[in-house]
This record gives sequence, C-alpha cells and structure tokens, in this order.
Amino acid sequence: ELESTVSITVVGASGDLAKKKIFPALFALFYEDCIPKHFTIFGYARTRLTDEEMRNMISKTLACRIDKRANCSDKMEQFLQRCFYHSGEYGLEENFSELDRKLKEQEGSMQCLAQIVGRLANRLFYLSIPPNIFVDVVRCASRSASSPTGWTRVIVEKPFGRDSQSSAELTQSLKQYLTEDQIFRIDHYLGKELVENLSVLRFSNLVFEPLWSRQFIRNVQLIFSEDFGTEGRGGYFDNYGIIRDIMQNHLLQILALFAMETPVSLAAEDIRNEKVKVLRSMRVLQLDDVVVGQYKGHTKGGRSYPAYVDDPTVPKGSLTPTFAAAALFIDNARWDGVPFLMKAGKALHTGRAEIRVQFRHVPGNLYKRNFGSDLDKATNELVIRVQPDEAIYLKINNKVPGLNMRLDRSNLNLLYAARYPIEIPDAYERLLMDAIEGERRLFIRSDELDAAWAIFTPVLKELEEKRIAPELYPYGSRGPVGAYYLAAKHNVRWGDLS
Ligand code: BG6
Repeated sequence: ELESTVSITVVGASGDLAKKKIFPALFALFYEDCIPKHFTIFGYARTRLTDEEMRNMISKTLACRIDKRANCSDKMEQFLQRCFYHSGEYGLEENFSELDRKLKEQEGSMQCLAQIVGRLANRLFYLSIPPNIFVDVVRCASRSASSPTGWTRVIVEKPFGRDSQSSAELTQSLKQYLTEDQIFRIDHYLGKELVENLSVLRFSNLVFEPLWSRQFIRNVQLIFSEDFGTEGRGGYFDNYGIIRDIMQNHLLQILALFAMETPVSLAAEDIRNEKVKVLRSMRVLQLDDVVVGQYKGHTKGGRSYPAYVDDPTVPKGSLTPTFAAAALFIDNARWDGVPFLMKAGKALHTGRAEIRVQFRHVPGNLYKRNFGSDLDKATNELVIRVQPDEAIYLKINNKVPGLNMRLDRSNLNLLYAARYPIEIPDAYERLLMDAIEGERRLFIRSDELDAAWAIFTPVLKELEEKRIAPELYPYGSRGPVGAYYLAAKHNVRWGDLS
C-alpha cells in the first residue's frame, strides 16, 4: 500500500464543537493508532492565535478517554506538535492560499521525514461553522486549498438547510465546488456504538430478524431526552427547533437503519440505497400527528430553573418548540400500519436516548388471567438504550419461583459496562476515522437528505405559518401531556413512562 499524508483542517477551530469533540476525537484516534502515520492538523478561524496558543487552547480539552488514569502526557505532547494554526476570514480566497502554503510546507516535511516524496498529500476539511458561511468556505477551500495530488474531502455538520427547498439550494451550491463523493454530511448519532450495532443485532440474530415486521411488532418508539435546556445555544436553536435539531436527522436516521430491508451487502452504497427506500416510503407527517411543547420556568428543591424564553439569546415570545412528539408511518409491506413514535425534548426529567420495540400480544395466551385485564403489560419489549449506560434488554414474562403460579416481567439484560469493560469511543472518533478512510456508510447522501426533509417540511411550514403555540411544560418534567394523547390515539403507551 502506498503511503500518503493527510492534513486535517478544522475550520471554526475556536468554536465549542471543535474544542469539545473534534480535537479530542482526533487525539483519541492518534492515541489508538487509528489515524494515518503521517498526519498534520490545522486549526482555522478568525481569532488571531499562534500555533502555541492554539495548542494551549486545545490541550485543556484533550482529556484522555483511553484510560482516564493513564498518564498520556507524552502522547499528548507528540500530538500537539503536529497541530498548527492559521487565522483568516471565512470568505477570503487569499487567506486560504496562505493556508495552502502552510499545508504544503507541512506535507513536504512529512514526506521528507518519511522518505515518501511524491506520494499523495490528502486533505480533509472539517466545517465546524455556522451554515451561512458553509458555501463561502467551500468555495475558498476548493479553489485555493484543495490537494493538488491526493483527495480533498469536506465534512459538514448540520443544519443542512431548514426545509426541502433551502436544503436543495445548499446542496446545489456545494456541488458547484465539490462532487457528492467529496461531501461527508455528518450525523453524529450514526457514529454511536448502539446505533452502529443495530444492523448486527437485526441481521445476525435469527431470533430477531423474523420478528422484525408488522406481523409481530406493534409499535416502535424513538425517544431522545435531555435534562438541560438550551443554555446559551438559544440563538442557534431558536432558528431551528427540536424537530429540525433532533427528529429530522438523529431520530430519523435511527429509524431508517431500524426499518430498512436487508441491504445487498455492507457496502456504503448498498446500505444507503436501502435507507433512502425506507425514507421514501414514509408518509408525509401531518399536523394532527404532532405535538409541540416548550419548557417554562420551574422551582424545585429551592432551585429555580429558567424558561426557554428566559435564555437571553432567545427572542421574547418565541414559539419555537423545545419538545415534540410525532407519529410516523412507513407505507410499505413490512411496516404497513405500525406506528413509529418519536419523542424528543430538552429540559426534561432525564437525559436518555433509546429505541423501544413493543411486540404484539401472544395469541391465545394461556396465562391471560395472570395479567388481569391489562394484556399490554404482558407484551415483550425490546429496549436498545443508546445512552447513557448503553444496554440492550428484552422484557419477558417469567414465573416467579415458588409453589404458586405468579408471573412477573423480567429483563434479559445486556449491560455494556458489565459485558464490555472498556471506554466506548465517542461518535466523532468513528466518523472522523471513516472520513479519513473514505468509508461513506455512516454519512448522509444527498438523496437521503432530500427524502428526510420531504417528510417534515410541510408540517414545519404549517406550524410556523399558523403560529401554533407550543404546550408549556415545566423544566425538569416529563414533557407535555399532549404526548400521551398522541400515543393513545395510535393505541400506544410510551414505554419510558409505564
Ligand atoms: C446535536 C443537537 O446534534 O445533538 C443538540 O444540535 C443536542 O441540540 C446534541 O444536544 C445531542 O448529542 P448527544 O451526543 O450529546 O446526545
């Protein structure tokens, strides 16, 4: 295999995401030898910093995930020596030409050191910047700082537009400068361990795959909750709301992986083809299948928690939802009539992301009378807890040991912490590694994105045009009661509440 070099430029290097996620993920990859041997990292932002200042800035957040007790300062020092900084405007080509010169310098010295002169110098750009400057940066980077010899790839973070039209426009603009192959649209939920495991669970266990359809599954629930509010991110959030922030991407991506048909192979295009098919089979979401909420201030245990509209970065009187529940349907042979319920909210009583699969009743259940009148309580439920405390458990009915016949619900329980006593990699580590390797399986293709927006765009428009007021719920509560009614309308009981 030919050796090549890779330069990773993080555009927006002084931002939160870069500091909290991207640099630590790059360091973890370096620590684990999962990054090409000859690499260099550049931070790019408007703030004026020297290389040393940038190293200081990021060294504070490079906490060693690998082994929290290990002393990784040597490795950290080696890593920091490969980090450089260039300050420039986001829309100025000459600033990117300067970056290009610096990149060439580093690439040259890496090639010299490794005696691999003449081999490819690959470049990856990570756009950790607001969407209104995506296109400017891509224009400048592709014109003035793309690799003359190897590949150039660009990772973009959501939001990819606000609706079908703006998303299509963004795609069009990016494609003036990049091919679809060069664009890596990130959805970090796809890098999470339990989301990655979904296909393994389904397609390599005989006990699950045959049950994976309307014949045996009554409903599927995708639940995301956070126990904190927008906390200073209100400026961004208010423009998008929870449906665009979480449902249209993170939860919908999980749904697509959950519900897709068996792909021809594990190749990226085969998987993405199946995801697009399932998304395109989905019914456009209707207003009466959505409940929106917004958190209000609340005092608990002598502490007071702010309302969403108290966030100084949120406009007064904002109607932006911080909570939403929705009932979605896939109109294909496998899933006809099965409700897929989504629920996502900020400032709720707990922080959790999980998938709940509720199975049908056992026909002619011999033990009916042991469950009283509530047969729902006796159905099996498979829970995939994405975070925290990663776990997969199956609720089954079991006889309580003893002389009489008493049943209870027990869990067949796979707790990751007990079974796999290792630190689970952060989603960004896997995704960065994949982007460097050119593995596109976990990135969103443009037709997938179009299909995803098509499901949500009409209802988003309607909510905004009709200025539908969100149902207020207290900070730290279980969210608006409307979510119960929505579920009940579809004969569903939320698994996380029962
Ligand atoms: C981001 C959203 O995509 O995901 C945030 O913009 C949210 O609002 C975050 O807090 C949640 O990610 P995680 O990995 O912490 O669950």
